[in-house]
Amino acid sequence: MAIEWNNNLETGVGEIDTQHKELFSRFNILLTACNEGKGRDEVLRLLQFLDDYIKSHFAAEEELQVRYNYSGYAAHKEQHTRFIEDVARLENQFRTEGASLPLVIQTNQTLAAWLIRHINRLDMELAEFLKGAAASR
Ligand SMILES: [Fe+2]
Repeated sequence: MAIEWNNNLETGVGEIDTQHKELFSRFNILLTACNEGKGRDEVLRLLQFLDDYIKSHFAAEEELQVRYNYSGYAAHKEQHTRFIEDVARLENQFRTEGASLPLVIQTNQTLAAWLIRHINRLDMELAEFLKGAAASR
């Protein structure tokens, strides 16, 4: 059930790729805890651990977009904001339901699928732009 990193997910911008790998790793730590039937407090702590990293990673990506005056900034930021809201909703569900199987499956499907889709589209576009910006300096 773990999400696996593969080279197709590399954007070619080192800072972003390193952060994405860390995201995957934190995501998998959370999933493992769920699969091992860890208690609600432990799962919540790991969800928070993932959430903290998501926020700092998004902030770093957005900072790059602002710095280079990226035209896709508003749309990209909107996706980030929506994802943060989804994670907050999930956190509330975990708080009330505990790490139930349906919820774990939903977490895996929703968050992992989103993350991969987001990397493949918006982050790739951003990376192409950043590489172009770096080359023209
Ligand atoms: Fe992004």
